[in-house]
Amino acid sequence: MDSLIDKYDRLAEGFTAREYANKEFYMYRRLLLTLFWGVPLKSGDSVLELGCGDGYLARSFIRYGLRYHGVDFAPERVRVAGSRLREAGLDADLTVADVNELSLTEPYDAVVAYMRTFFAYTREPLAVLRRLRPCVRKKIILDLNPRRDLPVKKGIALLQEAGFRRVTWRPFLVPKEKRLPPALLRVLVSCEDVPLVRSLPLRWKFHCLLKGEP
Ligand SMILES: C[S@@+](CC[C@H](N)C(=O)[O-])C[C@H]1O[C@@H](n2cnc3c(N)ncnc32)[C@H](O)[C@@H]1O
Repeated sequence: MDSLIDKYDRLAEGFTAREYANKEFYMYRRLLLTLFWGVPLKSGDSVLELGCGDGYLARSFIRYGLRYHGVDFAPERVRVAGSRLREAGLDADLTVADVNELSLTEPYDAVVAYMRTFFAYTREPLAVLRRLRPCVRKKIILDLNPRRDLPVKKGIALLQEAGFRRVTWRPFLVPKEKRLPPALLRVLVSCEDVPLVRSLPLRWKFHCLLKGEP
């Protein structure tokens, strides 16, 4: 585990800028889904982000008016996130902690794990989900790679077993590596809601998101 943390620490500076070819579109899409997929969030609501990385998404959440708490097990990432937010004059709680051992003391309106992916980083996802469940007021959103982690149906079943209701999924069809013009990105994203078509790209690329509500 320590070597994994070291790896993430080493890659902390400039992580988002390096990793995401369509960074702004990608993060804006995450913001919109966090806010409006399922029960909507409003300004003043609280969000807990698991695996918050270098705080890029945090900035958008806070600017929208959400009260933000970010958790990551790599101290250097949390440091970079802290400087990013301070430089932008924004206020947030950031904690160095392992999602596998997290014990929450307060509820959040939303818990999100855009970790690429939650299921890759949790040793016992069901146990983690059960611990999170009492602290989720409106929704939880997690990411899952159906080719590497587990089938979508199994992910849905785990959320249900942990006590979440109205569990549903959607593909996330914004490419990470390949830069595309915004018009094409919008077409891809519109396919996310087209029955049958939406599952096809997952056979060879992309990941999906799962949502559960209390
Ligand atoms: C692939 S990066 C994604 C970072 C950011 N959320 C993003 O989407 O760009 C995975 C992040 O999760 C963190 N992470 C991985 N396993 C973790 C764990 N068990 N507990 C807390 N953070 C973890 C890593 O340090 C890293 O910042």
